[in-house]
Amino acid sequence: MTKTVTLNNGIEMPMLGLGVYKITDEEMQDAVDAAIKAGYRAFDTAHFYFNEASLGKALKSSGVPRESLFVTTKLWNDDQGYENTKKAFNDSLEKLGLDYIDLYLIHWPCPDNDLFIESYQAMEALYAEGKIKSLGVANFKQHHLEKLLAVAKVKPVVNQIEYHPIFNQKDLQAYCKAQDILVTAWSPLMRGGDLFNNEVLQSIAEQYNKTVPQIILRWHIDSGRIVIPKSRNPERIAENYDIFDFELNEADIQAIDTLNKNERQFKDPDVVNMGDLK
Ligand SMILES: NC(=O)c1ccc[n+]([C@@H]2O[C@H](COP(=O)([O-])OP(=O)(O)OC[C@H]3O[C@@H](n4cnc5c(N)ncnc54)[C@H](OP(=O)(O)O)[C@@H]3O)[C@@H](O)[C@H]2O)c1
Repeated sequence: MTKTVTLNNGIEMPMLGLGVYKITDEEMQDAVDAAIKAGYRAFDTAHFYFNEASLGKALKSSGVPRESLFVTTKLWNDDQGYENTKKAFNDSLEKLGLDYIDLYLIHWPCPDNDLFIESYQAMEALYAEGKIKSLGVANFKQHHLEKLLAVAKVKPVVNQIEYHPIFNQKDLQAYCKAQDILVTAWSPLMRGGDLFNNEVLQSIAEQYNKTVPQIILRWHIDSGRIVIPKSRNPERIAENYDIFDFELNEADIQAIDTLNKNERQFKDPDVVNMGDLK
């Protein structure tokens, strides 16, 4: 059962990682310990989550060798620009207590500020120095990617976007696939809530003897998407990882695809600019 995927630069990335947005410094050690115990080796943070230091500390104390871990962090919007990007990257590296980052993403394109190209060029320089092993973006729509790909010397390996059964970005995933860029689904579980009571999902879950969150995560993986579900709870962290002993059949994948309502739960990347999110 596939647990990793080969990125367009030949590097292997786990298909399932722990998202740590909103995991507090106090909760981090227990969450990381539970994740490592369950089998996770990938962790997704960001400057904006203000927990890079506690994640780095918890990973160090886990005793897992650095080369077995896959750490993603992100350039915050307000740090875009060539020199600012280098400064922000070094700050993230120091907070995490690492000497390289596996995957560094531009968090949002911030199109009105028009700095994502030069930010990416700074990332390319850090990539050349070996401080970043893979480059990527987040919340990029097709037109942002087209603009970036026209000048990028190093192709982004992933585009991390909002993706869950109610907001299905199939067209963007197809465009990314054509460019050899993988999609990572953020909010893969739509932060829980009503989705877990959906009758279609519940009946598929019963059929496979799995929980609704497990079915949703498997739907992502069987559709070629990397997933980074967040949980602070050790049981749910283990539950979310326990999805590598089954696969969904095509009919069930399609049944989940039809739940799409094209409803973003968060802002459209075209209207998020520097200073907009606090
Ligand atoms: N690039 C971006 O702009 C962006 C934006 C948002 C998120 N992200 C990344 O994506 C990650 C995940 O997204 P997210 O945090 O927005 O949402 P999510 O992973 O879809 O959902 C997390 C919520 O679901 C609950 N949950 C998790 N597993 C569960 C289970 N098995 N059963 C019941 N409830 C469960 C969690 O509660 P408990 O913690 O209490 O278990 C939490 O409230 C983030 O942590 C972050 O790394 C990136």
